[in-house]
Amino acid sequence: MAKLLLLLCSVSVALRLANTADGCKNSSSYKEISLINQPFAFNCTYPPLTSEAVCRTWYKYPNKIPISKSIQSRIHQDQSWISFLSLLMEDSGIYQCVLKDANVCHRILINLTVFNISLCDVSRKSQLNVSYEYKQILHVGKDDSLTCHLNFPSSWILDSVKWFKDCKEIRENRFTSLRKKLLVNDVVTDDRGNYACQASLKHAGKNYTVLKSITVTTKKVDPGGRIPKIIYPKNNSIEVKPGSTLIVDCNITDVKGNTNSRSWRVNGTLVDDYYTESKRIQEGIESYVYFEDHNFYTVNITFLEVKMEDYGQIFMCHAGVSAAYIMLDLPAPDFRVNLIVGLLILTGMVVSVVCVYTIFKIDIVLWYRSAFLSTGVIEDGKLYDAYVLYPKTQRESHHQDVATLVLKILPEVLERQCGYKLFIFGRDEFPGQAVANVIDENIKLCRRLIIILPKSLSFALLKNMSEEQIAVYNALVQDGMKVILIEMEEIKDYTVMPESIQYIKQKHGALLWSGDFTEKTQCAKTKFWKRVRYRMPPKSYPPSSPVQLLKHLPCDLTAG
Ligand SMILES: *[C@@H]1O[C@H](CO)[C@@H](O)[C@H](O)[C@H]1NC(C)=O
Ligand SMILES: *[C@@H]1O[C@H](CO)[C@@H](O)[C@H](O)[C@H]1NC(C)=O
Ligand SMILES: *[C@@H]1O[C@H](CO)[C@@H](O)[C@H](O)[C@H]1NC(C)=O
Ligand SMILES: *[C@@H]1O[C@H](CO)[C@@H](O)[C@H](O)[C@H]1NC(C)=O
Ligand SMILES: *[C@@H]1O[C@H](CO)[C@@H](O)[C@H](O)[C@H]1NC(C)=O
Ligand SMILES: *[C@@H]1O[C@H](CO)[C@@H](O)[C@H](O)[C@H]1NC(C)=O
Ligand SMILES: *[C@@H]1O[C@H](CO)[C@@H](O)[C@H](O)[C@H]1NC(C)=O
Ligand SMILES: *[C@@H]1O[C@H](CO)[C@@H](O)[C@H](O)[C@H]1NC(C)=O
Ligand SMILES: *[C@@H]1O[C@H](CO)[C@@H](O)[C@H](O)[C@H]1NC(C)=O
Ligand SMILES: *[C@@H]1O[C@H](CO)[C@@H](O)[C@H](O)[C@H]1NC(C)=O
Repeated sequence: MAKLLLLLCSVSVALRLANTADGCKNSSSYKEISLINQPFAFNCTYPPLTSEAVCRTWYKYPNKIPISKSIQSRIHQDQSWISFLSLLMEDSGIYQCVLKDANVCHRILINLTVFNISLCDVSRKSQLNVSYEYKQILHVGKDDSLTCHLNFPSSWILDSVKWFKDCKEIRENRFTSLRKKLLVNDVVTDDRGNYACQASLKHAGKNYTVLKSITVTTKKVDPGGRIPKIIYPKNNSIEVKPGSTLIVDCNITDVKGNTNSRSWRVNGTLVDDYYTESKRIQEGIESYVYFEDHNFYTVNITFLEVKMEDYGQIFMCHAGVSAAYIMLDLPAPDFRVNLIVGLLILTGMVVSVVCVYTIFKIDIVLWYRSAFLSTGVIEDGKLYDAYVLYPKTQRESHHQDVATLVLKILPEVLERQCGYKLFIFGRDEFPGQAVANVIDENIKLCRRLIIILPKSLSFALLKNMSEEQIAVYNALVQDGMKVILIEMEEIKDYTVMPESIQYIKQKHGALLWSGDFTEKTQCAKTKFWKRVRYRMPPKSYPPSSPVQLLKHLPCDLTAG
């Protein structure tokens, strides 16, 4: 059979020689670089052609005479291979292998370049384009290996391989030479560098040496890179409102070609099994992205409706041996909303307190006095609580009212019911005293000044109030004594009044008398009297004496 093939080949070669237009396709071309004085071989393969009945013939371009088939020749064809026993500089050039079966013809081209350099001569080596060198990678922290690329036909027998690093032979225990390979235990970063393998080969009873250079780089592998890494979740909790829908991704990176499974579980059970009835919580379909050195997976969990029972439950994402979970939390009430509500409530409270106080100020003050002040005498050297100043009666009808108020009602309410002590001119002075002296001496002993302004008072007051009186209360106003102005009737035009009265009105305001002048008992609890009492010196009311309380009983009932 082989002989027949050989014969066929010879025939076709002969035909081709005769017929130069061979009609072959240039199917592939290679670039090969090798060192001088060492063997070199190249296999002619063209994978689509597998049939045994393929005739392969090597030529050196542009020679049309096939390469010798004698294995003794320095350059010869050995099966499908072209072999050089020892390269010379002039071997550089194009070699072509013509493959031919019954139907097609292919041509494979090699551009061989022979270099005359020493691998250990750094200055000359730099002339070489590094891309020619074999590049290999060692992975740091692992056991790895380098391979000496020895491509020779089976007639070449590998004897031994020596390894060099940076031109020194490797002798460390970590390195083991095994056939074409160099095994490296526990690779470290410093293992990178320029390596060379020197192989001794036997061919037809002769010894040959091949030297190949390998540039080695080291690469750090992700520590624990074989354990899937869960990027999210991170054993965190998620705030979510009950009743809402929630979707959470589990993002994982894992090494290429891993066989890990990824899933969401609750209490150790797949969520799809745990919620098999309701399907309220479901695991999504895994999606992935392939990167150069790892795969990225996403598998989500969907809560169609978050329920109270989910809070505090652990939802675990598993990826191989790795796991990480999420827990659901009720949303914390919003701090800002709380703050605003709090401020609003506070403002509301302040406003209502202020309102209540302004409306009920008088009642509050009076209540306070009755609750907390003693009925005892105020120790300020004064004898009376108020001096009552009023125009002297002329026996006219409305002056009758003034007399009733001053001599009957005021003492009844303020003295009897409230326990104040009044100085009323025309009642309390000693007979025969000079008017000016009475006023001068007694007014100093009073804490308040009550001025009664009768109807159509202007002339009456001007006529009947003595100059002294006016002077006195002028002085008192300057002393800062508090003045209670009581109008018997509303006075619209104060401009006709003496300036001092105008001043008092402006500073202290005036109280408008309300009530009648019948003999019926006036009550200290009416609005008007409360306002008067509010302006009077602080004094407990009602006095704590039970006799007094009893006395006031009918009054309390009517006023209540
Ligand atoms: C095939 O390669 C040879 C050698 O390089 C060249 O002379 C020839 O023109 C090429 N043929 C085609 C069809 O490209
Ligand atoms: C060399 O090429 C032949 C033919 O294509 C093939 O059968 C053989 O396996 C190749 N040898 C090697 C070492 O690649
Ligand atoms: C062969 O390779 C050499 C250098 O690598 C280059 O100068 C030459 O042009 C190449 N020849 C062909 C035909 O590609
Ligand atoms: C190869 O280079 C060496 C020196 O580097 C030189 O002595 C020798 O003659 C060269 N060989 C050829 C064939 O050029
Ligand atoms: C090295 O070879 C590559 C292609 O293989 C080329 O692009 C580059 O220019 C070459 N460098 C030198 C310095 O020759
Ligand atoms: C070839 O090498 C072997 C050892 O590997 C040695 O015994 C033998 O003598 C060598 N042959 C020649 C011709 O150098
Ligand atoms: C998970 O990965 C997806 C896809 O890259 C991304 O859209 C999503 O934001 C990631 N989720 C988290 C929680 O990191
Ligand atoms: C979780 O599983 C354990 C048994 O594996 C079971 O006793 C327990 O009741 C389960 N808890 C819930 C909340 O289902
Ligand atoms: C969850 O996964 C499903 C696939 O199972 C996908 O259709 C859906 O878009 C994912 N949701 C989110 C928010 O990524
Ligand atoms: C998260 O919890 C799981 C299970 O309890 C644990 O294995 C993992 O180490 C935790 N991961 C982190 C980042 O704490």
